[in-house]
Amino acid sequence: MSRQILVTSALPYANGPLHLGHLLESIQTDIWVRFQKQRGNDCIYLCADDAHGTAIMLTAEKLGITPEEQIARVKAEHERDLAGFLIRFDNYHSTHSPECKHYSEEIYRRLDANGHIERKDVTQLFDPEKQLFLADRYIKGTCPKCKADDQYGDNCEACGATYTPAELINPRSAISGATPIEKSSTHFFFKLGDFENLLRQWTSSDALQPQIANKLREWLDAGLHSWDISRDAPYFGFEIPGAPGKFFYVWLDAPIGYMASCANWCEANGRDFNEFWGVDSKAELYHFIGKDIINFHGLFWPAMLDSAGFRQPTAIYAHGFLTVNGKKMSKSRGTYIKAETYLEHLPAEYLRYYFAAKLSGAVDDIDLNLEDFINRVNSDLVGKLVNIASRSAKFVHKGNAGKLASQQHNIELWKRVTGASDAIAELYEQREYSKAVREIMALADATNEYFDSCEPWKLAKSEDTAGQAADVASQCIDIFRVLMTYLTPVLPELAVQAEAFLNCKLTWQGEFSPLQDHAIEPFKAMMNRVDADKVAAMVAASSDSSTATAPAAPVKTKVKKAAKDKDTGIADTIAYPDFAKIDLRVAEIIDAEAVEGADKLLRLTLSLGEYGERQVFAGIKTAYTAEQLVGKLTVMVANLEARKMRFGLSEGMVLAAGPGDQEIWLLSPDSGAKAGMKIQ
Ligand code: MSP
Ligand code: ZN
Repeated sequence: MSRQILVTSALPYANGPLHLGHLLESIQTDIWVRFQKQRGNDCIYLCADDAHGTAIMLTAEKLGITPEEQIARVKAEHERDLAGFLIRFDNYHSTHSPECKHYSEEIYRRLDANGHIERKDVTQLFDPEKQLFLADRYIKGTCPKCKADDQYGDNCEACGATYTPAELINPRSAISGATPIEKSSTHFFFKLGDFENLLRQWTSSDALQPQIANKLREWLDAGLHSWDISRDAPYFGFEIPGAPGKFFYVWLDAPIGYMASCANWCEANGRDFNEFWGVDSKAELYHFIGKDIINFHGLFWPAMLDSAGFRQPTAIYAHGFLTVNGKKMSKSRGTYIKAETYLEHLPAEYLRYYFAAKLSGAVDDIDLNLEDFINRVNSDLVGKLVNIASRSAKFVHKGNAGKLASQQHNIELWKRVTGASDAIAELYEQREYSKAVREIMALADATNEYFDSCEPWKLAKSEDTAGQAADVASQCIDIFRVLMTYLTPVLPELAVQAEAFLNCKLTWQGEFSPLQDHAIEPFKAMMNRVDADKVAAMVAASSDSSTATAPAAPVKTKVKKAAKDKDTGIADTIAYPDFAKIDLRVAEIIDAEAVEGADKLLRLTLSLGEYGERQVFAGIKTAYTAEQLVGKLTVMVANLEARKMRFGLSEGMVLAAGPGDQEIWLLSPDSGAKAGMKIQ
């Protein structure tokens, strides 16, 4: 029976653009949801913008627009960026919505009726000019400890001291610059302490990751304080029923935004809200969040739900924070990368794959190392995965008229690949994506090894054995289908391309059966290698230009063209770092054929061993026949930007010497060198 599952990601603030840290969360959640849907579960993915609070009000004021206009703008941007990263929500709503107002008021009324709301007078700093109570971060002054100026109201960035805003020397309002005064007003508090038993039970249930449960237990042991849920006008939010001038604090209605999005979706889809939120709900409910907001989801939210008569979440799944190149994202380093900036330079699936390759079910931080990112995507996706299809397709088309063989050629490998299905599914279920990816790539490696060991390019040379080449290639393509099925939650667009190539749907329900006697389409390039230039450009575009330092990613250098002039002879000197950027590799020529319509060109298929295959056009036809070349080792520039030629894409360059025509000599390593080895 299919499971009924409701999944949420934390609601991004409508105060600014999304960055790659937000995307870590959306991608983690989206992969999980796509996996559940692919397995046939009734899974719904909801989110919304978190639209309330002082910050949004002040931003709108600065821009000279209403808060409503501001949140509508940002919501459109968020939705655009999330769609760009292939995040597929069933509904994306807003906390500034009638549904959210309804449930916020209703839940508040129930908490109040149950005696869990208390009113207390609170003295706070107040901006007499703006007529506004000032949260700590809106107060600046001189640190009472080290006397550093211009420090925030709760901690000093210079010496690390923590204090209350009242202790600041010469405090000022960060909004108007006015000297704040102390002022008292009545606040509404949610009595969290009333829920200690419930929360103790909750922390020992399996709804929480061990690290999170420990943290919550620490808080419980330290004693629970009542939670201030009201803010005084002016505030952008919902007014508290029966309390004019008092508004719900943004974090009161934020999680209720999950319900609001659900109610809005239920209304549009003819479903019953109580099916998901009623105490008797049979549905599973999961909140994916970052580790910075576990107190709201791990303490306040279960208590609110309980008192208001709604069900509890099945589990809270917290993830760690994203760092870039080992450090906190920073504008000066160009590593505070906005979602929009990334998408202007690079395809979404590279990042989806990279995050998947690093994510686990734990709360550890995740590092996006840009160099590793380039290598990982190139080596795994292009060099291993897509390589299986690209190198195999031609043998099926040549040797078996474009049809997959009618029998299995390597039943053991097929069994190994399809036999991993349940284990891989369980890894997705547990959010152990990095382990799933590692397993899938090990299967891709085994498939490439099998292909290499059968040497279909040799079999294809003779009429007698061309059929065998097609059998090997068919087996590899059918395995490619299974591997792509496993990766569909991570790479949904690549999966669509694979479906077009394979002429079939990728389904992952029940056992896999082999695809035989089945016509496939000609192979078309599915994924390009990551262009290091684009990564460098993205970093440059993310830099605060005033403080920009060296770009964090390798930048392609233009190697000076050798001077043709006889006098100069040798080209201009280059610095060693420039030379070091050229990645020279041993390559095996596994196929060579004349290019129709070109006198001098041969189309070479080069194997870089574990790094996959490349197609290179080389002007050496006047000196070599195809037969002389196949099986030979040579040297190639492996990181040359691919060039689109009239006959196809040339993905590198082989090294040869000589003036031309018959006098061209291809460079070859001594025997013992292996394809893929780096020349150094
Ligand atoms: N509006 C609140 C959430 C309300 S949920 C009822 C909020 N918004 S946020 O925009 O600051 O963050 C949204 C989500 O993104 C949070 O889960 C947060 O942990 C996550 N991340 C924000 N920056 C992040 C990183 N640098 N790395 C990973 N996740 C990060 O909090
Ligand atoms: Zn200080």
